[in-house]
Amino acid sequence: MTHTVPTLERPAPFRRPPEPAQPIVADEPALGSVPVPRSLQVVASLPTGADKRAAVQAMFDRIAPRYQQLNRLLTFHLDGSWRRRALDALDLAPGQLVLDLATGPGDLLPGLAARHVTALGVDLSSGMLRLAPPGALVVQGDAAALPLPSGRLDGAVSAFALRNFVELGPVLAELARVLRPGGRIALLDVSTPRQVLLAAGHALWFGRAVPAIGGLLSDGAAYRYLPKSLAYLPEPPELVDLVRRAGFVAVEHRLLSGGIVQLLSGTRAAMSTGRAGG
Ligand SMILES: C[S@@+](CC[C@H](N)C(=O)[O-])C[C@H]1O[C@@H](n2cnc3c(N)ncnc32)[C@H](O)[C@@H]1O
Repeated sequence: MTHTVPTLERPAPFRRPPEPAQPIVADEPALGSVPVPRSLQVVASLPTGADKRAAVQAMFDRIAPRYQQLNRLLTFHLDGSWRRRALDALDLAPGQLVLDLATGPGDLLPGLAARHVTALGVDLSSGMLRLAPPGALVVQGDAAALPLPSGRLDGAVSAFALRNFVELGPVLAELARVLRPGGRIALLDVSTPRQVLLAAGHALWFGRAVPAIGGLLSDGAAYRYLPKSLAYLPEPPELVDLVRRAGFVAVEHRLLSGGIVQLLSGTRAAMSTGRAGG
């Protein structure tokens, strides 16, 4: 990718974040002797606020070297088709300016380049950004405080990051701020299938096999966090409502591959509403 964005400055050199003293998630919740339902145990054992941001950043720095290889393996290469569906939902035209939010190693950037748009990747993890395709325009930054001017972008896409943000409201408000009216968003993340057989197979694969394989080939704590992190995601109606309240219209929620992945899309409203700025 050789595009440049004249009004956006090149990123400052990456700073290595401090290593965390603790893994991202404790194996057992510390809730004393009171019996707690399983679903609440999962939520209680996950970090929140500034702790979550620091733990997520350190975790992705740690797993970056084998992240792409494991993604292909653990999704049976289906992730490529999910990414294409997200890019299709942006309705892009050549020459447009598009953000890949939480770009990681930039797996969406070649697809964006193929659509002849100028793509900018933002991510918290310097370890991930170092793996971006050569020549890609990437910058280290927080989704809740984007280092971008208001109302300039034509589209924003994000894959498999919603669960990892500290809070969804401020991130959606930032997307509404940086997009021009009429600009599109497409947000992908994992989901849990509703169909009984699929749900059982998914629970085995995602809940058992993925942590085991991830532990063998990469980082045990990170791949145990992966299924648990689903607990951070609101149910689809609440997700749609959050996106609408941030200032988007024509909001759609679609399930892909039998419901193991979800895709949220929407259009930046002409008038700013809620917390969205213009
Ligand atoms: C599961 S990875 C997805 C990476 C990439 N989008 C992909 O599809 O492979 C989640 C990414 O979200 C990034 N992330 C988490 N919290 C973030 C934040 N607050 N701001 C920016 N990036 C964040 C992580 O560093 C990580 O690279």
